[in-house]
Amino acid sequence: MTVHFIGAGPGAADLITVRGRDLIARCPVCLYAGSLVPKDLLAYCPPGARIVDTAAMSLETIAEEYGRAFAAGKDVARLHSGDLSVWSAMGEQIRLLQERGIPYTVTPGVPSFAAAAAALGRELTLPEVAQSLVLTRTSGRASSMPPRETLTAFAQTGATLAIHLSIHVLGKVVEELTPHYGPDCPVAIVFRASWPDERIVRGALATIEAEAAKAPMERTALILVGPSLGSQDFRNSALYDADYARRFRTPGWRGTSK
Ligand SMILES: C[S@@+](CC[C@H](N)C(=O)[O-])C[C@H]1O[C@@H](n2cnc3c(N)ncnc32)[C@H](O)[C@@H]1O
Repeated sequence: MTVHFIGAGPGAADLITVRGRDLIARCPVCLYAGSLVPKDLLAYCPPGARIVDTAAMSLETIAEEYGRAFAAGKDVARLHSGDLSVWSAMGEQIRLLQERGIPYTVTPGVPSFAAAAAALGRELTLPEVAQSLVLTRTSGRASSMPPRETLTAFAQTGATLAIHLSIHVLGKVVEELTPHYGPDCPVAIVFRASWPDERIVRGALATIEAEAAKAPMERTALILVGPSLGSQDFRNSALYDADYARRFRTPGWRGTSK
């Protein structure tokens, strides 16, 4: 028996990986985080599967589900939204499984920042504009931030910021970032990226609050901030420069093979 943690992707059911989908189809038990995991994915569960929404369950109750499946020798597909490496609560579940000697695997998923960038049709790292992407959040009821992980500290780098779990404190985000990025710095808010009701609000730090207020958004939204969101005059990457020598190309190569 194994618990398979599976990244369910950002929303659209066809953004799960083939491996994740096949695992769901093989497991007689499926636990899913109902608030963000698309219900369409449950159609891949085998007939008669035990399907449990864990949205309202405590860690202890989820542990009991794992325990029962372990005793019965039944594999479990455990679905969390996006990818499991960020804000999935997988860490505490793995610790619990390890304590009980229950094996597990991890299958990655498409994270929401990638779905948001795709919705915007943009690359978030542009040559000489931004070469780093910071995945962060502001403190919430369930988790406070480690003291040095402040928006101000990240802003000092000028990197592109993907701010999760923070749409309800948009004003505070704007206030903290404006001194570093300037009022004209582009901002995009992507609400429910890849879901049928996906929505995008664009603006600058000086205007984004007013833009967002025109049609208020709840919870599932990502705030992206940084010059990479607006820049058009960045230089080309060296990667496809004909004079750039690299392993599979000699200097002066012009892209023809004959
Ligand atoms: C608990 S975290 C889960 C993050 C997830 N593990 C991931 O890989 O993106 C939930 C937050 O992720 C962001 N998020 C998740 N899905 C999203 C989506 N489809 N569109 C925009 N933001 C999303 C929002 O900021 C939301 O508050």
